[in-house]
Amino acid sequence: MNKTIFIAAISYLIGNFSSAYVLGRRLKKTDVRKYGSGNAGATNALRVFGVKIGLIVFMLDILKGIIASAIGNKILGFDGIIIAGIFVVLGHDWPIFLKFKGGKGIATSLGVMLYVQFPIALICTLIGFLVIGITKYVSLGSMIATLLVPIFIVLFDRPFNFKLFIFTVILASIAVFKHRSNISRLMNGKESKLGQRIQ
Ligand code: G3P
Repeated sequence: MNKTIFIAAISYLIGNFSSAYVLGRRLKKTDVRKYGSGNAGATNALRVFGVKIGLIVFMLDILKGIIASAIGNKILGFDGIIIAGIFVVLGHDWPIFLKFKGGKGIATSLGVMLYVQFPIALICTLIGFLVIGITKYVSLGSMIATLLVPIFIVLFDRPFNFKLFIFTVILASIAVFKHRSNISRLMNGKESKLGQRIQ
């Protein structure tokens, strides 16, 4: 099999492992997608199942991004990371095994970015957490952090890597696209805040 197709396929499959769905089904006998925002991600797992499961989901989803990137890197170097990064997020957001109803890809994108540009990923994450701390809107903090990555790449990544810039623009675009409903809820003042738990 062509190396590019192999990386894309394996990364998409890694992304398909929806930890929010699997842990919810196994530990709570609940499909997380039927509650809260309906999203199979860390924020909704936190909202529906509480802090412990939310944190585990967050870490597992980050891990998916790191593992896929490492595989891509091993096989094709930097181009492999780009293919892996995009497809692991696509697999997380639109998993074939869950009828294409997955998460929003923030933690998985974070895992990819931690692998590829650790300092910038870390700084953007801290800013994202700060925004969440102040506003209590996880979606807002997530989008700001994701959108800041390509901006920080332009400002601070030396030598400037155009491919990395385009890659992060693609990840940010996917993230914003997946947050369409959050954006309209934020504009209508209907977005749920961190700490609002739903049963
Ligand atoms: O990472 C997803 C987060 O930004 C929003 O999640 O469940 O509030 O739509 P949710």
